[in-house]
Amino acid sequence: MHTVVETDVLIVGSGPAGASAALALSTYGVRNMVVTRYAHLADTPRAHITNQRTMEVLRDLGVEQDVIDRATPQHLMGNTTFCTSLAGEELGRVRSWGNDPLVQAAHELASPTRMCDLPQHLMEPVLVNAAVARGTDLRFSTVYKSFVQDEDGVTVTVEDRLRGDEYAIRAKYLIGADGGRSKVAEDAGLPMGGQMGVAGSINIVFEADLSKYTAHRPSTLYWVLAPGATVGGIGAGLVRCVRPWNEWLIVWGYDVTAGAPDLTEEYALAVVRRLIGDDEIPVSVTSSSAWTVNEMYAESYASGRVLCAGDAVHRHPPSNGLGSNTSVQDAYNLAWKLKLVLDGVATPRLLDTYDAERAPIGKQIVTRANQSIAETAPVFEALGGFSPQTPEQMWANIAARKDATEDGRKQRAALREAIAFKVYEFNAHGVDLNHRYVSDAIVPDGTPDPGYPRDPELYHQPTSRPGAKLPHAWITSGTRTLSTLDTVGRGRFTLLTGIGGDAWVRAAAAQPLDIATVVVGPGQEYEDPYGDWANVSEISDAGALLVRPDGYVAFRRSDAAEDAVRLLTDALRRILGHD
Ligand code: FDA
Repeated sequence: MHTVVETDVLIVGSGPAGASAALALSTYGVRNMVVTRYAHLADTPRAHITNQRTMEVLRDLGVEQDVIDRATPQHLMGNTTFCTSLAGEELGRVRSWGNDPLVQAAHELASPTRMCDLPQHLMEPVLVNAAVARGTDLRFSTVYKSFVQDEDGVTVTVEDRLRGDEYAIRAKYLIGADGGRSKVAEDAGLPMGGQMGVAGSINIVFEADLSKYTAHRPSTLYWVLAPGATVGGIGAGLVRCVRPWNEWLIVWGYDVTAGAPDLTEEYALAVVRRLIGDDEIPVSVTSSSAWTVNEMYAESYASGRVLCAGDAVHRHPPSNGLGSNTSVQDAYNLAWKLKLVLDGVATPRLLDTYDAERAPIGKQIVTRANQSIAETAPVFEALGGFSPQTPEQMWANIAARKDATEDGRKQRAALREAIAFKVYEFNAHGVDLNHRYVSDAIVPDGTPDPGYPRDPELYHQPTSRPGAKLPHAWITSGTRTLSTLDTVGRGRFTLLTGIGGDAWVRAAAAQPLDIATVVVGPGQEYEDPYGDWANVSEISDAGALLVRPDGYVAFRRSDAAEDAVRLLTDALRRILGHD
């Protein structure tokens, strides 16, 4: 082995976690390098649901519009349909992904952004192109082999697959964003809970004009309850829209104990035909691959200078669309901390808060995604169960819901209820937005935890209590209308106050790091003409919120304080790991 190349942060992997880590670090001016195994980015659709929190992150990183331009918009995502095949009988629908009128209002109240559907092979280029344009050194066909860390950094051995040789990269920190079979996490000895290989699944990517069966009920997901649909997989057969209405991906299960079937074109076509239910539709299969449903999460995300993100530390099925979203959010949580530690503004103790804040969320989403699979079973049960019956019995059970009998009425009610319950998979706004951090980078303000008066999985419940994301409110600046979230981010801390909060503004200016100040009130740079901010801020005009670069409230005082400089200095010393 010869050459030693140097960087500040080496990232292994160019998936959603690695690409967004690179993008954030380059945006903050941190020297970084990405090594990635293949000569290309993701070449299949994979993750696609992009939730509001991720869109907020992408907005701060300056690529929100690029994503919107390429994505399927929210209004085409939302008629999640249960059917016997696309051409067959429809059993019911769930208004999903913010398309229920009440949930839509909740989405509009929660964030300046909208959900959208951008498959991974289209998302990764947006992230990677922006990262490279801002300075990331990206090396394709480069495989991570091993690392050794010492007090000052990490030396990583990689293999150049083009030259066929190995070389060393010396970095101050290493991010393992190398996916569900992470060798970095394994080499770092990260403790894992749960299990891999819970069930077997197959992805089949294909092209077919299915507008005849989909355009009138536009959706990202069509669930097919057909013979064999309860074997393995993710709850039922799934026809997923990649691009409306010509590009598709089917998810179909297999018995994991028997091993993956031989993925011949003939096999793939047979599955596609079964789920479409119309042999007249021309179909072209692009690719098929087998994967397993996992239920695994790391109990710790870091070992010294090695930090892992994304599927490397949380492995779960695609239910609820949490895979790439959580990966992007991990990276965003980590990037500003690395920046401040590398700049010497914070001590490495700030990095300990990455683990403390993100590991509980990883565990939560792994559990949620697997629970969503189990919650499809009542839909089958409402139809008399599918297994081990013959197809004839199954079709008879499905037909029985049309009977003018008491049994038929009961079955219709049970089916409606079971399908409506899937809202926990398709409209879990709280799962997407209710993250509340507890760590040394959050300074408690002594107020009691308000908890969640409403269902924490279904409903977003904003608060400005330290540890929560800054509540969104529309405010104005001159002729411009902007979100409170637009006043924070860009790698900086921000102090928000109002009329009478001058002492807080002076206290922010007295700190040794750059803190943006936002004063909201009549005649100030920012105004609150709708009174929205006054309604959600939970502080008085003279109070203050200190918001971290990732948009989370780190410190709150509800009113003016004579010793504002001391309070803010003490808070920052704790947040930055100096105490
Ligand atoms: P990801 O796996 O995306 O990226 C890992 C990166 O590391 C890749 O660039 C890889 O090449 C690189 N790498 C790995 N080992 C390396 C090494 N030794 N050296 C260098 N580079 C290395 N999710 C969802 O929400 N809906 C869905 O429908 C699907 N479908 C789906 C299908 C298939 C086939 C897969 C594999 C995954 C999904 N997922 C999914 C999961 C989703 O894709 C996943 O949650 C995110 O991609 C996770 O992003 P990461 O960046 O963490 O890993």
